[in-house]
Amino acid sequence: MRARLVVLGSGEGTNLQALIDACRDPGYGARVVAVGADRPAAGTLARAGQAGIPAFTVRLADYPSREDWDVALTRACTAYAPDLVVLAGFMKLVGKPFLDRFGGRCLNTHPALLPSFPGAHGVRDALAHGVKVTGCTVFLIDESVDAGPIVAQACVPVADDDDEAVLHERIKVTERALLRDTVGRMVREGWSVHGRKVRIGP
Ligand code: GRF
Repeated sequence: MRARLVVLGSGEGTNLQALIDACRDPGYGARVVAVGADRPAAGTLARAGQAGIPAFTVRLADYPSREDWDVALTRACTAYAPDLVVLAGFMKLVGKPFLDRFGGRCLNTHPALLPSFPGAHGVRDALAHGVKVTGCTVFLIDESVDAGPIVAQACVPVADDDDEAVLHERIKVTERALLRDTVGRMVREGWSVHGRKVRIGP
């Protein structure tokens, strides 16, 4: 049985695409059963359409409160019975209803080496700090902002003349491979969490 992935993303969707492409190999161990977004123009939705994957949009503006939105997002994901939810460039923080349902089995990806440079501008902040090496982090979400247990990380060198866009694109090449490989290992081998430590495998 292949694991069921629901992928949420607000942006271009290249991380989603890496997962869709990996899932074409039955040996990868997973399939993307649905894609969700918080805005109708998200590139993730177009990529889902091209791949024939069901997609949904849950817009914050359509709900009277953040919690109502969170409940609606949780319901939309639950409808696809995911084994793992992947936030792949999903630019909204999820709340308690979502965490109650998917805590421990919801991955996020961040374009910096956490715990350095959390938040929406990780690439910009790393560049402004003058680091020589940055990277990406795949982690399990919790109630914190970008501070959940770390599953995998990879390094990316910073060049002297990098700007935010150039550096982010270089990070994303590494990030896509890291996310693809980490999700694949998790669904094939299982995982456990002991405090802050995540172990993939039996
Ligand atoms: C990724 O770098 C992700 O970590 C960040 O936004 C980017 C999304 O890229 N939050 P894409 O939409 O998957 O191409």
